[in-house]
Amino acid sequence: MLVLGIDTSCDDCAVAIVKDGQTILSSVIASQNEAHAEFQGVVPEIASRLHTEHIVPVYRQALEEAGVEESSLEAVAVTARPGLVGSLLVGLSFAKALAFSRHLPLWGVDHILAHLYAVQLESPILYPHLGLLVSGGHTILAKVTNFDQLEVLGTTVDDAVGETFDKVAKFLGLGYPGGKAVDTLAQSGQAEAFRFPRPQLKPGRRPYDLSFSGLKTAVIHQRESFLNPGFENSLPNVCASFQKTVVDMLISLVKRAAQETGISTVVLAGGVASNSSLRKEFAQTTSLKVYYPSLPLCTDNGAMVAGLAYHHLLRGDRSTWSLNAESRVPHFKAFSHTKS
Ligand code: KG4
Ligand code: ZN
Repeated sequence: MLVLGIDTSCDDCAVAIVKDGQTILSSVIASQNEAHAEFQGVVPEIASRLHTEHIVPVYRQALEEAGVEESSLEAVAVTARPGLVGSLLVGLSFAKALAFSRHLPLWGVDHILAHLYAVQLESPILYPHLGLLVSGGHTILAKVTNFDQLEVLGTTVDDAVGETFDKVAKFLGLGYPGGKAVDTLAQSGQAEAFRFPRPQLKPGRRPYDLSFSGLKTAVIHQRESFLNPGFENSLPNVCASFQKTVVDMLISLVKRAAQETGISTVVLAGGVASNSSLRKEFAQTTSLKVYYPSLPLCTDNGAMVAGLAYHHLLRGDRSTWSLNAESRVPHFKAFSHTKS
């Protein structure tokens, strides 16, 4: 089955064509990084407007690169939630129009599940496993029991990991998005230079919830007070120490979850899953079986959407024309467990 997958959940306009949930025939991404760089963050209004400019050419390029005629497409999949509503609506409207005019089935995908599926496009991983989604918008640890089922064990209660990288990078003048720049600079720094705090959550939170805002503040506003004697207050040292703190927090969380659930297979997903130190430390300091997608499948892409949708479509799941964009998915929200 040839499935077209569209993701316009944030700032990247991504369209891919995937065969049978496995073989990527094309995956085209129009990045908007340049347009948002001067604001050091995604401006939703600009993002949605650029999606309207990009969606048709990106779609045409995806068909061309795959060597596929529009008439050969068998289904349309699109990210419907969570994300920036204005951005989501562009992909959604395009997907609906295409599916309607071509009489194709439509499936609205959850972006979180799609990220966690991405690795399956490269090597099938058995369920259940632990999924750690670390991106610019999300930080979620979940027990993934099937392609469409997960139990959220914990989330960030404030900033997402990627957002924390981006804010630290912005403060250090490393550009936007800054995760990769921090990662690169950290390689020439000393991780033991700063002893940054690891935020402790108050009792009453879920045991796997995380917080990054205290660490961000410490790095941005008080770093001198965390400098260990004999070390230089240099950019590479700040980056290396900050990154090590984040990586240690994530790894100890996953190790604890693995011990308590008895699940030793872990899937990493999202932009921060491409962090070199995170990958290295998982391999060197744990005995867990850790899988992560190749770099283009870590960040937002249409292939993960088409791949995941294939399994839904195969069992007959269909979205109706009333499918709408949702900015949030309630059970992915931090604190949701304390509100009911
Ligand atoms: O998954 P993604 O493309 O977008 C969201 O769905 O949010 O992730 C983008 C995030 C950005 O915050 C970026 O700075 C971060 O991933 N990122 C990294 C690295 N590469 C990208 N963070 C740390 N180290 C990296 N190598
Ligand atoms: Zn994403």
